[in-house]
Amino acid sequence: MNGTRAIADVDREVDRVVVTWDDGGRSTFHHLWLRDNCPCPSCRHPSVPERLVDTLSIADKIAPETVGVTALGGLDVTWAGDGHRSTFAADWLDEHAYDDGPRYEAPARTLWSGGAVAPPPEVSYAAVMESAAGLREWLRQLERFGVSFVRGAPTTPGTVVGLAERIAFLRNSNFGLLWDVVSKPDPDSLAYTAHALGPHIDLVSREMLPGVQLLHCLVFDADGGDSVLVDGFACAAELAAEDAEAYERLTTTPVRFRYRDGAGTDVSARVPLIRLDVDGSVREVRYSNALLAPLDVPTDDMLPTYRALRAFGRILVSGRHELRIRLQPGDVMCFDNYRVLHGRAEFDPNSGPRHLQGCYVDRDDFLSRLRTLDSNVDPDVDRRVY
Ligand code: OGA
Ligand code: ZN
Ligand code: ZN
Repeated sequence: MNGTRAIADVDREVDRVVVTWDDGGRSTFHHLWLRDNCPCPSCRHPSVPERLVDTLSIADKIAPETVGVTALGGLDVTWAGDGHRSTFAADWLDEHAYDDGPRYEAPARTLWSGGAVAPPPEVSYAAVMESAAGLREWLRQLERFGVSFVRGAPTTPGTVVGLAERIAFLRNSNFGLLWDVVSKPDPDSLAYTAHALGPHIDLVSREMLPGVQLLHCLVFDADGGDSVLVDGFACAAELAAEDAEAYERLTTTPVRFRYRDGAGTDVSARVPLIRLDVDGSVREVRYSNALLAPLDVPTDDMLPTYRALRAFGRILVSGRHELRIRLQPGDVMCFDNYRVLHGRAEFDPNSGPRHLQGCYVDRDDFLSRLRTLDSNVDPDVDRRVY
């Protein structure tokens, strides 16, 4: 798409038109597609960003009465039958031409291998809170590296909510909108103990993972408790390259995660540990040793499934795709919870306090904020009262 082409000529065929652009290129648009995408105010609401045209109401053999090129190099169609008129701007048609299939832009990702993420990407709290440019930088780092550290946040409880709301409203769960990570009596998560936590994805027992996780360090005087982050996509790529059998198995075998607290929550998801998109790229890495339900694959698949799971798990803990850091008060560790696993070393709660606060934002809202920033929508204009 270059957005500057105009239509020079248009030919009609039985069920489509073929336009010739002024640079000599050609694009095909089916009659049905054109009628279905008519931009006029009776087909697309003028202020609500939704369609009014009903695909089912269009005649099977819809065809133009006339086609022509507009003064601005767009396409003008008058439809046979009802005389409805559709006028398409050249740049809209150019942007939506489908001759080569969907124009999917793979996210710009840098996997962490060979030190690609050192030093860790970071941005200042003030920049994120006070400017659209700082906010955009933070979200771009998260998109590219799957991690970004926001430094210099106040250590007032609740601060992380305001930071997350620079993106969008928070994602809720049985742990609440904002949760305190402290070693406490009667914990309902291993996170709320002093145990080591192996690399894991949060809320794996839910069908829809939270997209972005923020963990804000308020107080950290305890011995131990250093953080580890692991690039799950880099680990999946290593597995695919080194052990194709294991990779194939983990991308196609659903396993079950379950979290049941006996206090009103019993969530369960049945998903492959490495979940692929329709184009074969990795969409999610789901791994949490703590929340895996007993494997229930058929008998003959049990040992091969364990072998694959353990091969992947060993890559996750190999240190080849990881970042280790000791959080400082005022740091907010933010990461892509579809991609980057997090964990911590055991700590000694008697040596001093350790208090983090965390929250989540859904992936849709993260991507939405990135797109609106890219189209220069001021994030402060798009503030709703959450
Ligand atoms: C969590 C978690 C890590 C830590 O709360 O989800 O993994 O460093 N915490 O305490
Ligand atoms: Zn119309
Ligand atoms: Zn966690």
